[in-house]
Amino acid sequence: MTRPLHPAAASAQPFQVADLRPTERLFEDPEGQDRLEKVVSRYPEKRAALLPMLGYAQERNGWISDENMAEIAGALELTPAYVRSVATFYTMYNRHPVGRHLIQVCTCISCHLNEGQEVFEQFLSETGTRAGEISEDGRYTVIEAECLGACGFATAVQVNDRYFENVTPDKVPAILDELD
Ligand code: FES
Repeated sequence: MTRPLHPAAASAQPFQVADLRPTERLFEDPEGQDRLEKVVSRYPEKRAALLPMLGYAQERNGWISDENMAEIAGALELTPAYVRSVATFYTMYNRHPVGRHLIQVCTCISCHLNEGQEVFEQFLSETGTRAGEISEDGRYTVIEAECLGACGFATAVQVNDRYFENVTPDKVPAILDELD
């Protein structure tokens, strides 16, 4: 299988165009205001609430848009450039829309030696996507991941917040069946 672009950048590739989730504003309703207030109250400085508020944006919209970063910057009295620099540093923050199930397949050394690449390609095949794309039904995005910290249980796969260990290509259909 050919790779369209470097897999490490899959979650940020521009062909990921299906914007299936409208980007909601974060702090215009009581829920958002309440979250901001509670998180900020835990820290001595507003800026310390940046990571949790980026997490809130992703929890709410599935990814973090430029508009959401600007909102967070305003709320925490930071520059948009600073917020962007943090959001783009951590791979756990999605900078483009992703499917409802973000499937991250580790292909680092331990997993690579245990069919990691084949598992990755099986997920792409079963979901009918290329790396980083959203499937037509909006359910899946499959990307390669750096070490997921489960090297003793290769191949490791992370689907949203859930880990699957000792994954082999033949287990891929059953894993997809388990996802709602
Ligand atoms: S190499 Fe795959 S989890 Fe570490």
